[in-house]
Amino acid sequence: MRIAVIGSGYVGLTSAVCFAEIGHNVISVDNDKLKIAALERGTVPFHERFLPELLMRHRGGRLQFSASVADAVSESEAVFITVGTPQSETGEADLSFVEAVAREVASAIRSSIVIIEKSTVPVRTCESLRKTLLLNGAQQTLFSVASNPEFLREGTAVTDFLYPDRIVIGVDDHLSATVMHEIYRPLTTGSYYRREEAIPFEKRATQQAPIIVTNAKSAELIKHACNAFLAMKISFINAVANISESVGADIEQVCAGIGSDSRIGPKFLNAGIGYGGSCFPKDIQAFQVVAHQCNCDFGLLAEVMRINSDQARRFLTKVRDALWTLRGKRLAVLGLAFKGDTDDVRESPAIAIIEALLKEGALIRAYDPAAIPKAKGVLPDNNSVVYAADAYDAVAECDALLILTEWKEFASLDLHKIRSLLKHPIVIDGRNLYETARMTNAGLIYYSTGRSASFPAHMSSIAHQTAPLPAPFVRPAVGL
Ligand code: UDX
Repeated sequence: MRIAVIGSGYVGLTSAVCFAEIGHNVISVDNDKLKIAALERGTVPFHERFLPELLMRHRGGRLQFSASVADAVSESEAVFITVGTPQSETGEADLSFVEAVAREVASAIRSSIVIIEKSTVPVRTCESLRKTLLLNGAQQTLFSVASNPEFLREGTAVTDFLYPDRIVIGVDDHLSATVMHEIYRPLTTGSYYRREEAIPFEKRATQQAPIIVTNAKSAELIKHACNAFLAMKISFINAVANISESVGADIEQVCAGIGSDSRIGPKFLNAGIGYGGSCFPKDIQAFQVVAHQCNCDFGLLAEVMRINSDQARRFLTKVRDALWTLRGKRLAVLGLAFKGDTDDVRESPAIAIIEALLKEGALIRAYDPAAIPKAKGVLPDNNSVVYAADAYDAVAECDALLILTEWKEFASLDLHKIRSLLKHPIVIDGRNLYETARMTNAGLIYYSTGRSASFPAHMSSIAHQTAPLPAPFVRPAVGL
């Protein structure tokens, strides 16, 4: 199949490269000519596992790059729109890039083609897309519109694409159903998994990727509902963690108990400093606007967002509890990205926490395996933030260590070395990467989320008492 993918960001580039990997001829389009030139040279503009080698494998062959929407569309049977849908001032998704692309696509349609929205868009965008294509001269008989939401996590985007939990195609007519089935056939029949050079993955034994066929509106709704549900799971466990911490329970034990209920499952139950990134914060807000426009009171989403932003504030309170005043204190920070395995700092809770600490006069020594270049673009460029060469370099002579991103390498630090390098033996872990006993055995005072602060035996006299429960809860009056 000949495919054009318009927009070469995280989703677009990953999709283009993976479509080529499963056997299609792909043109990846972006209006940023410098980006196109870099991609043609084989340079991936962000940190994503497997993407560099797949780009090298297919560029110049099944994968071409272009800055021209018209050229790409005129040569393709399917066009995926993967341009950004940023948050507008009102919280809703700004679809002006999608509309602009639709206008360009409309004027380039010469033969039968399917236009597929893959960017995260509110329900009913397919309708607007169809209308825009018609208004801009596309012939009704020549095109179909479909929805194919992506579920690509940064850091595992390639394997998420090639080994999906499910592929969702939202189709309202025969042409788009046929084309979409054809595009994903190497995954749904499993022929890709039998290829020797297939990207390795533990699910490689997967015989066939499941495909869910819905109408376009349902597919659009699936995407928003899915992200909202995942964000809700994180906020839920963070709220439970706060209770757990207050009463001296252990959130890790609580999660093990909750997550082993097969109706709930163990994933996305990691308590910490809250979710960030380019998707959840924006998508939950946009979904709230969708609910409002549909006259549905979905107050739960507002609560999910409130708990999330509160989580970073709670972390700051913990830092103050541990260190008393912050002015002039040197704090080692491990992690700048919004999560591990990515260099993305967009809406990173780590960045928000650092900014708040700087306001209180703290000095930061930060390390992240991938995100330092991008963090430099958002954090102040002065001596208040210094970037370290590795985790141990970051902690040297610091008053405390703060762990803010769940990179795997931060979970296996030499704790005795950390203890010897720190000025004061204090670790405040926003990602619960350690068992409390390991920290205290290494002589470190350990603050984490959803567990009481723990102290090495020789410091037990300064251990905090379990915080007293606040005043009795007064049940609000319920009325209609
Ligand atoms: C998300 C969705 O998972 C993906 O399906 C969608 O298409 C794009 O948005 P991504 O933004 O890459 O992917 O990150 P994800 O792995 O979902 O994590 C989001 C945030 O939640 C991160 O900040 C992460 O640290 C946080 N998180 C995740 C938790 O705090 N606890 C958890 O248990 C899981």
